[in-house]
Amino acid sequence: MKQILITGGAGFLGSHLSERLLNEGNHILCVDNFYTGTKKNVAHLIGHPYFELIRHDVTFPLYVEADEIYNLACPASPVHYQFDPVQTTKTSVHGAINMLGLAKRLKAKILQASTSEVYGDPEVHPQPEEYWGKVNPIGIRSCYDEGKRCAETLFFDYWRQHNLEIKVVRIFNTYGPRMHPNDGRVVSNFIVQALKGENITIYGDGSQTRSFCFVDDLITAMIRMMSTASEITGPVNIGNPGEFTMLELAKKIIELTGSRSSLVYQSLPSDDPRQRKPDITLAREKLGWEPKVHLEEGLVKTIKYFKTLIL
Ligand SMILES: NC(=O)c1ccc[n+]([C@@H]2O[C@H](COP(=O)([O-])OP(=O)(O)OC[C@H]3O[C@@H](n4cnc5c(N)ncnc54)[C@H](O)[C@@H]3O)[C@@H](O)[C@H]2O)c1
Repeated sequence: MKQILITGGAGFLGSHLSERLLNEGNHILCVDNFYTGTKKNVAHLIGHPYFELIRHDVTFPLYVEADEIYNLACPASPVHYQFDPVQTTKTSVHGAINMLGLAKRLKAKILQASTSEVYGDPEVHPQPEEYWGKVNPIGIRSCYDEGKRCAETLFFDYWRQHNLEIKVVRIFNTYGPRMHPNDGRVVSNFIVQALKGENITIYGDGSQTRSFCFVDDLITAMIRMMSTASEITGPVNIGNPGEFTMLELAKKIIELTGSRSSLVYQSLPSDDPRQRKPDITLAREKLGWEPKVHLEEGLVKTIKYFKTLIL
Protein backbone atom coordinates (compact mmCIF):
# COMPACT_ATOMS: atom_id res chain seq x y z
CA MET A 1 0.00 0.00 0.00
CA LYS A 2 1.40 3.39 -1.01
CA GLN A 3 0.94 6.53 1.06
CA ILE A 4 -0.10 9.26 -1.37
CA LEU A 5 -0.30 12.95 -0.58
CA ILE A 6 -2.68 14.99 -2.75
CA THR A 7 -2.63 18.77 -2.32
CA GLY A 8 -5.83 20.46 -3.46
CA GLY A 9 -7.42 17.08 -2.79
CA ALA A 10 -10.85 18.53 -1.96
CA GLY A 11 -11.10 20.37 -5.27
CA PHE A 12 -12.72 19.27 -8.51
CA LEU A 13 -9.84 17.21 -9.90
CA GLY A 14 -8.29 16.40 -6.51
CA SER A 15 -11.46 14.77 -5.21
CA HIS A 16 -11.66 12.44 -8.23
CA LEU A 17 -7.96 11.62 -7.91
CA SER A 18 -8.35 10.91 -4.18
CA GLU A 19 -11.31 8.63 -4.85
CA ARG A 20 -9.61 6.71 -7.66
CA LEU A 21 -6.33 6.19 -5.79
CA LEU A 22 -8.17 5.19 -2.62
CA ASN A 23 -10.21 2.63 -4.60
CA GLU A 24 -6.97 1.28 -6.03
CA GLY A 25 -5.89 0.38 -2.47
CA ASN A 26 -3.70 3.32 -1.47
CA HIS A 27 -3.59 5.38 1.70
CA ILE A 28 -4.60 8.96 0.85
CA LEU A 29 -3.56 12.11 2.65
CA CYS A 30 -5.80 14.78 1.24
CA VAL A 31 -4.52 18.29 1.97
CA ASP A 32 -6.62 21.38 1.27
CA ASN A 33 -7.31 24.82 2.72
CA PHE A 34 -10.83 24.80 1.19
CA TYR A 35 -10.21 28.02 -0.72
CA THR A 36 -12.12 26.80 -3.78
CA GLY A 37 -12.54 23.17 -2.79
CA THR A 38 -15.02 21.87 -0.26
CA LYS A 39 -15.33 19.10 2.27
CA LYS A 40 -18.50 18.07 0.44
CA ASN A 41 -16.39 16.94 -2.53
CA VAL A 42 -14.76 14.27 -0.38
CA ALA A 43 -17.57 13.71 2.16
CA HIS A 44 -18.16 10.22 0.73
CA LEU A 45 -14.52 9.29 1.46
CA ILE A 46 -14.43 10.55 5.05
CA GLY A 47 -14.61 7.60 7.41
CA HIS A 48 -12.72 5.30 5.05
CA PRO A 49 -9.87 3.84 7.15
CA TYR A 50 -7.25 4.84 4.57
CA PHE A 51 -8.46 8.36 3.85
CA GLU A 52 -7.19 11.34 5.88
CA LEU A 53 -8.29 14.91 5.32
CA ILE A 54 -5.95 17.66 6.54
CA ARG A 55 -6.83 21.36 6.49
CA HIS A 56 -3.58 23.05 5.53
CA ASP A 57 -2.37 25.90 3.33
CA VAL A 58 0.50 24.73 1.10
CA THR A 59 2.20 28.12 1.29
CA PHE A 60 3.33 26.89 4.73
CA PRO A 61 5.63 23.87 5.17
CA LEU A 62 4.04 20.50 5.82
CA TYR A 63 5.68 17.58 7.60
CA VAL A 64 4.06 14.26 6.79
CA GLU A 65 5.21 10.94 5.33
CA ALA A 66 4.38 9.96 1.73
CA ASP A 67 5.69 7.82 -1.11
CA GLU A 68 4.14 9.98 -3.83
CA ILE A 69 2.91 13.57 -3.97
CA TYR A 70 0.38 14.97 -6.43
CA ASN A 71 0.54 18.78 -6.25
CA LEU A 72 -2.83 20.17 -7.36
CA ALA A 73 -3.38 22.99 -4.86
CA CYS A 74 -4.18 26.19 -6.76
CA PRO A 75 -7.39 27.98 -7.71
CA ALA A 76 -7.93 27.13 -11.37
CA SER A 77 -10.57 29.36 -12.90
CA PRO A 78 -10.03 33.07 -13.68
CA VAL A 79 -12.76 34.27 -11.27
CA HIS A 80 -11.11 32.40 -8.44
CA TYR A 81 -7.44 32.98 -9.20
CA GLN A 82 -7.98 36.70 -9.88
CA PHE A 83 -9.86 37.22 -6.60
CA ASP A 84 -6.59 37.23 -4.62
CA PRO A 85 -3.80 37.21 -7.21
CA VAL A 86 -0.96 37.53 -4.70
CA GLN A 87 -2.20 34.43 -2.88
CA THR A 88 -2.49 32.64 -6.26
CA THR A 89 1.19 33.22 -7.04
CA LYS A 90 2.15 32.29 -3.49
CA THR A 91 0.18 29.06 -3.73
CA SER A 92 1.86 28.08 -6.98
CA VAL A 93 5.39 29.14 -6.06
CA HIS A 94 5.66 28.71 -2.27
CA GLY A 95 3.40 25.68 -2.54
CA ALA A 96 5.75 24.10 -5.09
CA ILE A 97 8.82 24.93 -2.97
CA ASN A 98 7.23 23.40 0.13
CA MET A 99 6.09 20.26 -1.65
CA LEU A 100 9.39 19.83 -3.50
CA GLY A 101 11.24 20.28 -0.20
CA LEU A 102 9.05 17.59 1.34
CA ALA A 103 9.60 15.26 -1.64
CA LYS A 104 13.35 15.79 -1.36
CA ARG A 105 13.37 14.93 2.35
CA LEU A 106 11.20 11.84 1.77
CA LYS A 107 12.83 10.83 -1.55
CA ALA A 108 9.27 10.73 -2.88
CA LYS A 109 8.06 11.06 -6.47
CA ILE A 110 6.21 14.29 -7.11
CA LEU A 111 3.78 15.28 -9.85
CA GLN A 112 2.85 18.84 -10.72
CA ALA A 113 -0.59 19.70 -12.11
CA SER A 114 0.51 22.37 -14.56
CA THR A 115 -1.69 23.92 -17.18
CA SER A 116 -2.11 24.74 -20.85
CA GLU A 117 -2.09 28.37 -19.64
CA VAL A 118 1.71 28.16 -19.54
CA TYR A 119 1.44 28.57 -23.34
CA GLY A 120 -0.31 31.91 -22.77
CA ASP A 121 -1.78 33.37 -25.94
CA PRO A 122 -0.04 30.91 -28.27
CA GLU A 123 1.14 31.55 -31.84
CA VAL A 124 1.24 27.79 -32.48
CA HIS A 125 -1.83 25.52 -32.81
CA PRO A 126 -2.15 22.93 -31.44
CA GLN A 127 0.57 23.42 -28.81
CA PRO A 128 3.31 20.79 -28.53
CA GLU A 129 5.31 20.59 -25.28
CA GLU A 130 8.42 22.12 -26.92
CA TYR A 131 6.58 25.39 -27.50
CA TRP A 132 7.71 27.93 -24.87
CA GLY A 133 4.54 29.99 -24.94
CA LYS A 134 3.70 33.67 -25.22
CA VAL A 135 2.81 34.96 -21.79
CA ASN A 136 2.23 38.48 -20.52
CA PRO A 137 4.19 38.79 -17.25
CA ILE A 138 2.23 41.79 -15.92
CA GLY A 139 -1.40 41.15 -16.84
CA ILE A 140 -4.36 40.04 -14.77
CA ARG A 141 -3.88 36.38 -15.75
CA SER A 142 -0.16 36.46 -14.93
CA CYS A 143 -0.59 35.42 -11.28
CA TYR A 144 -1.82 32.07 -12.58
CA ASP A 145 0.18 31.68 -15.80
CA GLU A 146 3.51 32.89 -14.44
CA GLY A 147 2.92 31.18 -11.08
CA LYS A 148 2.48 27.87 -12.90
CA ARG A 149 5.49 28.55 -15.14
CA CYS A 150 7.66 29.29 -12.12
CA ALA A 151 6.41 26.09 -10.45
CA GLU A 152 7.55 24.15 -13.55
CA THR A 153 10.94 25.88 -13.30
CA LEU A 154 11.24 24.82 -9.66
CA PHE A 155 10.33 21.24 -10.51
CA PHE A 156 13.02 21.06 -13.19
CA ASP A 157 15.62 22.74 -10.94
CA TYR A 158 14.94 20.25 -8.15
CA TRP A 159 15.32 17.50 -10.74
CA ARG A 160 18.63 18.88 -12.08
CA GLN A 161 20.03 20.02 -8.74
CA HIS A 162 18.75 17.35 -6.35
CA ASN A 163 17.98 14.47 -8.68
CA LEU A 164 14.37 14.43 -7.53
CA GLU A 165 11.95 12.22 -9.44
CA ILE A 166 9.53 14.70 -10.98
CA LYS A 167 6.53 14.44 -13.31
CA VAL A 168 4.92 17.48 -14.91
CA VAL A 169 1.58 17.33 -16.72
CA ARG A 170 0.05 20.27 -18.55
CA ILE A 171 -3.70 19.97 -18.19
CA PHE A 172 -6.07 21.36 -20.80
CA ASN A 173 -9.77 22.20 -20.18
CA THR A 174 -11.34 19.47 -18.09
CA TYR A 175 -14.96 19.12 -17.05
CA GLY A 176 -17.13 16.79 -15.01
CA PRO A 177 -19.06 16.35 -11.76
CA ARG A 178 -17.86 18.54 -8.83
CA MET A 179 -16.88 21.48 -11.03
CA HIS A 180 -17.84 24.75 -9.38
CA PRO A 181 -21.24 25.94 -10.58
CA ASN A 182 -20.12 29.60 -10.57
CA ASP A 183 -16.56 29.52 -11.78
CA GLY A 184 -17.24 31.15 -15.12
CA ARG A 185 -16.12 28.19 -17.26
CA VAL A 186 -18.09 27.53 -20.38
CA VAL A 187 -19.32 23.98 -19.64
CA SER A 188 -20.56 24.82 -16.14
CA ASN A 189 -21.99 28.19 -17.30
CA PHE A 190 -23.99 26.62 -20.12
CA ILE A 191 -25.28 23.74 -17.98
CA VAL A 192 -26.33 26.02 -15.11
CA GLN A 193 -28.04 28.44 -17.52
CA ALA A 194 -29.82 25.57 -19.29
CA LEU A 195 -31.00 23.94 -16.06
CA LYS A 196 -32.31 27.26 -14.73
CA GLY A 197 -34.03 27.97 -18.06
CA GLU A 198 -31.99 31.17 -18.44
CA ASN A 199 -30.64 32.50 -21.73
CA ILE A 200 -27.39 30.88 -22.79
CA THR A 201 -24.76 33.49 -23.53
CA ILE A 202 -22.66 32.97 -26.63
CA TYR A 203 -19.74 35.31 -27.17
CA GLY A 204 -19.16 36.38 -30.78
CA ASP A 205 -20.88 34.18 -33.35
CA GLY A 206 -20.08 31.02 -31.39
CA SER A 207 -17.79 29.62 -34.08
CA GLN A 208 -14.70 29.68 -31.80
CA THR A 209 -13.69 26.17 -30.79
CA ARG A 210 -12.63 24.56 -27.52
CA SER A 211 -11.64 21.03 -26.52
CA PHE A 212 -12.92 19.37 -23.37
CA CYS A 213 -11.53 16.39 -21.51
CA PHE A 214 -13.79 14.42 -19.18
CA VAL A 215 -12.39 14.18 -15.66
CA ASP A 216 -12.16 10.33 -15.61
CA ASP A 217 -9.86 10.36 -18.64
CA LEU A 218 -7.69 13.03 -17.11
CA ILE A 219 -7.30 11.14 -13.81
CA THR A 220 -6.22 8.01 -15.71
CA ALA A 221 -3.53 10.04 -17.48
CA MET A 222 -2.24 11.60 -14.24
CA ILE A 223 -1.91 8.21 -12.57
CA ARG A 224 -0.18 6.75 -15.65
CA MET A 225 2.23 9.66 -15.65
CA MET A 226 3.12 9.06 -12.01
CA SER A 227 3.95 5.43 -12.79
CA THR A 228 6.24 6.12 -15.76
CA ALA A 229 9.96 5.28 -15.62
CA SER A 230 12.11 7.73 -13.66
CA GLU A 231 13.64 9.34 -16.76
CA ILE A 232 10.21 10.53 -17.89
CA THR A 233 9.76 13.96 -16.37
CA GLY A 234 7.40 15.57 -18.84
CA PRO A 235 6.08 18.11 -19.40
CA VAL A 236 3.32 16.10 -21.05
CA ASN A 237 0.11 17.66 -22.38
CA ILE A 238 -3.11 16.02 -21.22
CA GLY A 239 -6.41 16.91 -22.76
CA ASN A 240 -8.95 15.94 -25.36
CA PRO A 241 -8.11 17.09 -28.88
CA GLY A 242 -11.74 16.78 -30.10
CA GLU A 243 -12.86 20.29 -31.06
CA PHE A 244 -16.35 21.74 -30.71
CA THR A 245 -17.66 25.19 -31.49
CA MET A 246 -19.34 27.05 -28.66
CA LEU A 247 -22.56 26.92 -30.66
CA GLU A 248 -22.35 23.12 -30.95
CA LEU A 249 -21.69 22.85 -27.22
CA ALA A 250 -24.64 25.10 -26.32
CA LYS A 251 -27.02 23.21 -28.62
CA LYS A 252 -25.86 19.85 -27.27
CA ILE A 253 -26.43 21.01 -23.67
CA ILE A 254 -29.90 22.35 -24.51
CA GLU A 255 -30.75 19.00 -26.11
CA LEU A 256 -29.41 16.92 -23.19
CA THR A 257 -31.08 19.02 -20.49
CA GLY A 258 -34.32 19.35 -22.45
CA SER A 259 -34.09 23.05 -21.65
CA ARG A 260 -36.16 25.81 -23.22
CA SER A 261 -33.29 28.29 -22.92
CA SER A 262 -32.61 30.53 -25.89
CA LEU A 263 -29.21 31.53 -27.20
CA VAL A 264 -28.22 35.18 -26.83
CA TYR A 265 -25.20 36.67 -28.50
CA GLN A 266 -22.75 39.11 -26.92
CA SER A 267 -19.58 40.67 -28.32
CA LEU A 268 -16.43 38.59 -28.11
CA PRO A 269 -14.04 39.55 -25.27
CA SER A 270 -10.79 40.93 -26.71
CA ASP A 271 -8.54 38.18 -25.34
CA ASP A 272 -10.77 35.27 -26.36
CA PRO A 273 -8.68 32.75 -28.34
CA ARG A 274 -10.22 31.38 -31.58
CA GLN A 275 -9.04 27.92 -30.85
CA ARG A 276 -7.53 25.93 -28.02
CA LYS A 277 -6.57 22.35 -28.61
CA PRO A 278 -3.91 20.09 -27.10
CA ASP A 279 -1.33 18.17 -29.10
CA ILE A 280 -1.31 14.84 -27.20
CA THR A 281 1.22 12.98 -29.36
CA LEU A 282 3.61 12.69 -26.40
CA ALA A 283 0.91 11.42 -24.01
CA ARG A 284 -0.04 8.76 -26.58
CA GLU A 285 3.60 7.71 -26.94
CA LYS A 286 4.80 7.89 -23.30
CA LEU A 287 1.63 7.03 -21.41
CA GLY A 288 -0.16 4.89 -23.99
CA TRP A 289 -3.10 7.17 -23.21
CA GLU A 290 -5.80 8.93 -25.08
CA PRO A 291 -9.21 10.16 -23.96
CA LYS A 292 -12.05 7.65 -24.24
CA VAL A 293 -15.14 9.51 -23.02
CA HIS A 294 -17.14 11.24 -25.75
CA LEU A 295 -18.45 14.73 -25.10
CA GLU A 296 -22.08 13.63 -24.96
CA GLU A 297 -21.37 10.85 -22.44
CA GLY A 298 -19.37 13.21 -20.23
CA LEU A 299 -22.00 15.95 -20.46
CA VAL A 300 -24.75 13.55 -19.38
CA LYS A 301 -22.79 12.71 -16.20
CA THR A 302 -21.97 16.36 -15.55
CA ILE A 303 -25.57 17.49 -16.06
CA LYS A 304 -26.73 14.80 -13.64
CA TYR A 305 -24.39 16.25 -11.01
CA PHE A 306 -25.47 19.85 -11.59
CA LYS A 307 -29.12 18.79 -11.31
CA THR A 308 -28.40 17.68 -7.72
CA LEU A 309 -27.11 21.17 -6.96
CA ILE A 310 -29.67 23.26 -8.77
CA LEU A 311 -32.99 21.47 -9.03
N1 LIG B 1 -9.79 21.85 -14.25
C1 LIG B 1 -9.05 22.19 -15.27
O1 LIG B 1 -9.55 22.26 -16.41
C2 LIG B 1 -7.58 22.46 -15.10
C3 LIG B 1 -6.84 22.83 -16.23
C4 LIG B 1 -5.48 23.08 -16.09
C5 LIG B 1 -4.86 22.93 -14.86
N2 LIG B 1 -5.60 22.57 -13.78
C6 LIG B 1 -4.88 22.47 -12.48
O2 LIG B 1 -5.33 21.36 -11.74
C7 LIG B 1 -5.35 21.68 -10.34
C8 LIG B 1 -6.74 21.39 -9.78
O3 LIG B 1 -7.70 22.19 -10.46
P1 LIG B 1 -9.26 22.08 -10.21
O4 LIG B 1 -9.95 22.34 -11.49
O5 LIG B 1 -9.53 20.84 -9.46
O6 LIG B 1 -9.51 23.37 -9.31
P2 LIG B 1 -10.14 23.52 -7.87
O7 LIG B 1 -10.16 24.98 -7.56
O8 LIG B 1 -11.42 22.76 -7.77
O9 LIG B 1 -9.08 22.78 -6.97
C9 LIG B 1 -7.96 23.40 -6.39
C10 LIG B 1 -7.90 22.99 -4.93
O10 LIG B 1 -6.75 23.58 -4.32
C11 LIG B 1 -7.13 24.09 -3.06
N3 LIG B 1 -6.20 25.17 -2.70
C12 LIG B 1 -6.07 26.38 -3.28
N4 LIG B 1 -5.10 27.07 -2.69
C13 LIG B 1 -4.60 26.27 -1.71
C14 LIG B 1 -3.58 26.44 -0.74
N5 LIG B 1 -2.86 27.57 -0.65
N6 LIG B 1 -3.33 25.41 0.11
C15 LIG B 1 -4.05 24.25 0.05
N7 LIG B 1 -5.02 24.05 -0.86
C16 LIG B 1 -5.29 25.06 -1.72
C17 LIG B 1 -8.55 24.56 -3.24
O11 LIG B 1 -9.27 24.74 -2.03
C18 LIG B 1 -9.12 23.47 -4.13
O12 LIG B 1 -9.64 22.41 -3.37
C19 LIG B 1 -4.95 23.14 -10.22
O13 LIG B 1 -3.59 23.20 -9.87
C20 LIG B 1 -5.16 23.69 -11.61
O14 LIG B 1 -4.28 24.74 -11.90
C21 LIG B 1 -6.94 22.34 -13.87
